[in-house]
Amino acid sequence: MNTKNKMITGSIEVREESIYDHPKYYDLVFGADCAAEIQFILGCGELFLERQPKRFFEPACGTGRLIHALAKRGYEVGGLDLNEKAIDFCNARLEKHGFARSTFVADMSDFHVKKKHDIGFNTINSFRHLDSESAARKHLICMGDAIRVGGLYLLGIHLTPSDVPPSETESWSARRGHLAINTHMWTKNRDPKNRVERFGIQFDIHRPSGSFRILDELVLRSYTAAQMNQLIRSSKCWETVETFSFAYDLDDPIHVDGTCEDVVYVLRRKR
Ligand SMILES: C[S@@+](CC[C@H](N)C(=O)[O-])C[C@H]1O[C@@H](n2cnc3c(N)ncnc32)[C@H](O)[C@@H]1O
Repeated sequence: MNTKNKMITGSIEVREESIYDHPKYYDLVFGADCAAEIQFILGCGELFLERQPKRFFEPACGTGRLIHALAKRGYEVGGLDLNEKAIDFCNARLEKHGFARSTFVADMSDFHVKKKHDIGFNTINSFRHLDSESAARKHLICMGDAIRVGGLYLLGIHLTPSDVPPSETESWSARRGHLAINTHMWTKNRDPKNRVERFGIQFDIHRPSGSFRILDELVLRSYTAAQMNQLIRSSKCWETVETFSFAYDLDDPIHVDGTCEDVVYVLRRKR
């Protein structure tokens, strides 16, 4: 996902770059949903833990929009991401607000943290960046090491439904001051046999000084409900205690079947 070239489509300059290399824009585009996710994460602590959580950990934390929101509420937070620019952005924001620079660059399928945490979370599909069953299992094992026995891992993923056609496009907008971003994501190709899905994603950035488009491709591993259950079982350290939709409604758990797409698994660390 390196810069490949620049071209002009219509009146907008197109830059073929990774959206993850633009933490400022990424944070605006994905920051809007923070409140619902934070309420959900804290609510899971109340519902499924026997004592108040203190320490939270986010693998693939990106810009740390959720980590920062939890730090502001007085919790101890940690996280990691493969992208150095995202981690720099995340740590700089934590530091600016008086918190420790507590996130680091690492691969989520190969890491170790010294302290045990009460809750881990990974809410919007980042897990699907892991491109093999073995990397996904290693990730669950690393998370098993990072979370105390009885603690939780909230794993949000977009499943490939087996009984209904999958949704193919998504568009949304975000604005802060004079900066406006229109985002569009679409399916380019699905290869269920090899469990690879390719999506196009573009950010149209509009600033007073001009507009441009960041054009990227996301390559994600696919999971049906059955494949996800099998993976969780094979990790041996997690059990599923509940499942919710991306509506994050704790009063409305869902039963995962072949029609489901967006699912948050509430996993409990087994003994
Ligand atoms: C969709 S973003 C999510 C960021 C953040 N969790 C959030 O909710 O805003 C996916 C993130 O996964 C990171 N990522 C991809 N592969 C990774 C890996 N193997 N280890 C750690 N981070 C990874 C990317 O750099 C990116 O920041």
